[in-house]
Amino acid sequence: MSKIHQIKFVKSNKVITTEEGKSIVISSDNQGLKLPRNCMQGMCTTCIAKIIEGRIRYIEEPDPDTLTKEDIDNNMALLCIATPLSDLVIEESED
Ligand code: FES
Repeated sequence: MSKIHQIKFVKSNKVITTEEGKSIVISSDNQGLKLPRNCMQGMCTTCIAKIIEGRIRYIEEPDPDTLTKEDIDNNMALLCIATPLSDLVIEESED
C-alpha cells in the first residue's frame, strides 16, 4: 500500500494529503487547491515552488536544464512531477 503524506501550503493556508507516487499538482486539484501549472511535464517551471520542510522525489526525472543550480540550492521543486517522500510544507509561487 502506498504511503499517504500531508502537505501544507503556507500561502493559501491549505492542507492536502497525497499518496506517494502521485503528482502534487494533481492531488491538489482533486482536493480543491488549484496550483499554477502549464506543461505538466517538468519543462516550463510554471509550477515551481519552495519546499520548506520535508522531502520529495520526481516521478520522472526533470530535464536537467529545467531547474537551475540556484533553484535546487534554494529547495525549489517542480510540483507537477514531484511526489512526497514525507510530510511537506510548501511555499507556493504566486499564480
Ligand atoms: S507545469 Fe510545467 S514544469 Fe510543472
